[in-house]
Amino acid sequence: MNLNIALLPGDGVGPEVLAQAVKCLQAVEETFNHHFVYKEAPVGAIAIQKKGNPLPDNTLKLCKEADAVLFGAIGDPKYDNDPNAKVRPEQGLLKLRKELGLFANIRPVLAHPALFDRSPLKKEIISGTDFVIYRELTGGIYFGEKKLNEEGTVASDLCEYSEEEISRIAHLAFKAAKSRKKKLTLVDKANVLESSRLWRKVVAKIGESYPEVTLDFLFVDNAAMQIILNPSQFDVILTENMFGDIISDEGSVIGGSIGLLASASVGEENALFEPIHGSFPQGAGKDIANPIASILSAAMLLEHFNLSEEAVAIKKAVDKALKKGIVTPDLKAKSQYGTNQVGDFIAHNIVDIEDDFNM
Ligand code: IPM
Ligand code: MN
Repeated sequence: MNLNIALLPGDGVGPEVLAQAVKCLQAVEETFNHHFVYKEAPVGAIAIQKKGNPLPDNTLKLCKEADAVLFGAIGDPKYDNDPNAKVRPEQGLLKLRKELGLFANIRPVLAHPALFDRSPLKKEIISGTDFVIYRELTGGIYFGEKKLNEEGTVASDLCEYSEEEISRIAHLAFKAAKSRKKKLTLVDKANVLESSRLWRKVVAKIGESYPEVTLDFLFVDNAAMQIILNPSQFDVILTENMFGDIISDEGSVIGGSIGLLASASVGEENALFEPIHGSFPQGAGKDIANPIASILSAAMLLEHFNLSEEAVAIKKAVDKALKKGIVTPDLKAKSQYGTNQVGDFIAHNIVDIEDDFNM
């Protein structure tokens, strides 16, 4: 298969982890005879520095023309504590999501047996965890009207959802549940928020056309508790933008490191793949960032194009690295392996896995 892939390394450790994902995609090309073309463009703080814009026009154009976007990370602490900053790196990612129409963000959460003792939770609790969060990505409070009065003393962010915005992601989530454990949990705050009540109404109605899927509802505060108390009860979690942002970071704790969680953001025409972690500026340039979330994001990219065997090859190679302890220091204190070595090990094993297939 031929694919044009836009590479957006972004800030902090973004470029380092993305480079490992590209190594793995190249190993896939070689092993399975595909041809991928990679074109790189700036986004985030680095783009502000170079072009005064967190999402330069050329970057957006490249992404629109590509078959898929592989994204590194975004953010720079210099903007975080400056309430007066007019441009922020994150605006680049938010605008990209909106412009590409990436309304569904898919975040799988898994507890890997090789990492059970890395989790702050007990093994009995996390064993069997295998759920996926469908987070709405282009609506809600992130994109509603923002206001600040003239005195700068009163501020508001509007949380607005339309039936159409809810139903398009709900259908994707129900379809996913149908091919998994057949359970869908809508996470909302319908006891307080009008927008959540609309979510419940629309999702319940759509649920009627997926009779094989059991639908239940959880308030987000309770969901935050349930994810830690009993994560294996979940299959597909469907939720709005901000709740999804929060519970997916929470979910990442289960598996032992946020450095393991990949995501896919999809729309009608475009798709973007990125780790859920941030730019980890303290780790930048130190060869210590965990590349696995980025590598697994590349696997999700392959799955998106129905290259399932190729995606499995990446996942098996990642499993091997985890089992053998070829991991970065976030997963093993004093590990002697850096970002690059972990990437090399996984890429080499993708090539070897093909030998396994042929045996
Ligand atoms: C994420 C990130 C982003 C978000 C930030 C960087 C804008 O936290 O992808 O989860 O809040 O969506
Ligand atoms: Mn987040």
